[in-house]
Amino acid sequence: MEPIAYVNGSFVPHSEAKVSVFDRGFLFADGIYEVAAVLDGKLVDNASHLARLERSVGEIQLKLPETLARIEEIQKELVKRNNIESGLVYLEVTRGADTGRDFPFPKADVKSTLVMFTSSKEIIDAPSAKAGVNVITVPDLRWTRRDIKSVALLAQVLAKQAAAAAGCSEAWMIEDGKVTEGGSSSCFIVTRDDVIVTRKNGNEILPGCTRKAVVKLAEERQLRIEERAFTVEEALSAKEAFITSASVFVQGVVAIDGKKVGDGKVGPMTARLREIYVEFAKATAV
Ligand code: PDD
Repeated sequence: MEPIAYVNGSFVPHSEAKVSVFDRGFLFADGIYEVAAVLDGKLVDNASHLARLERSVGEIQLKLPETLARIEEIQKELVKRNNIESGLVYLEVTRGADTGRDFPFPKADVKSTLVMFTSSKEIIDAPSAKAGVNVITVPDLRWTRRDIKSVALLAQVLAKQAAAAAGCSEAWMIEDGKVTEGGSSSCFIVTRDDVIVTRKNGNEILPGCTRKAVVKLAEERQLRIEERAFTVEEALSAKEAFITSASVFVQGVVAIDGKKVGDGKVGPMTARLREIYVEFAKATAV
C-alpha cells in the first residue's frame, strides 16, 4: 500500500501529493515547518510543536488555514492511516500559490498551503542511540532569524551534506567562534564538573522543543544547567556532548572533527537524560 499524505484538505497517495509550481514555499521558501515524533502510534510533545508553529507563522504574518486543534486531528489521522508506530510527522504551511511570482504577500483570497506526511523510523532502539554519532563543524551561513522554523534550509542542506560526505550524521554550525546549533538539532555539552551547558534561546538558534523538555526535566531533577554559548574547544575538553531533536531525542556526540569527546563513548549523563526524555515522551504522547 502506498503511503498517504495530506494536501490542502485531502488524504492522497504520495504519488498524487502535489502543489502548484506557483506555491510560495517552492518559489520563495515562504513557509514554516514542524517535525514531531511518533511513539507507540502517538504524537510526542506535540503541544510544544504546535505552539512553536503558531509563533513561527505569527513572526512572518502567515495565517494558518486550519486551527491548531484541527491540525492535530489531521496529524493523528495521518499517523493512523499510515500505521506509524515509531516515526515522524512532517508538516509544512506556506503562503499559498498566487498566479505568478510577485515578492510581496498575495491578496487576501490566496489560501495558505498545508501539507503533511509521515515516515517510519526507529527512534528508541536506533543503533546511534547506543553508539553515539560523529559530527563535523561548519561555518553557520544562515540568516539572523533562526528562531523561526522556516523552510529555507539551504545552509543546513549544505552543512549536513558536508557531514554526510565526511561519514558523519550531523554538522555543528559555528558563528563568532561559538557553536550555534546542529544542522537539525540543539547542541549540549557536560562540563568536567557535571554542568549541562546549552546555548541560550534567541534569534541565533531555533528554540528546540526537545531542548526545552530536556532542560525542564533536568532542572526538576536538580541537575545543574547553564544556558550560554560554548566553543568547540570547550566541547572537546568536556566530559560529554550530545544533541537533541524530535527525530533523535537525546543522542551522544562521541567525536567532533575526528577528535574524541571525553572517552569517545556515550557518557552517563547523556544516557540518563535520554532515558528521562524517553520516559517523558512515552508518558505524555497523545
Ligand atoms: N529539526 N535546531 C535546528 C536548526 C533544527 O532544525 C531542529 C529540528 C532543532 C531541534 O528542534 P526540536 O527539538 O524541536 O526537533 C534544533 C527537525 C527535526 C528537522 O529539521 O528535521
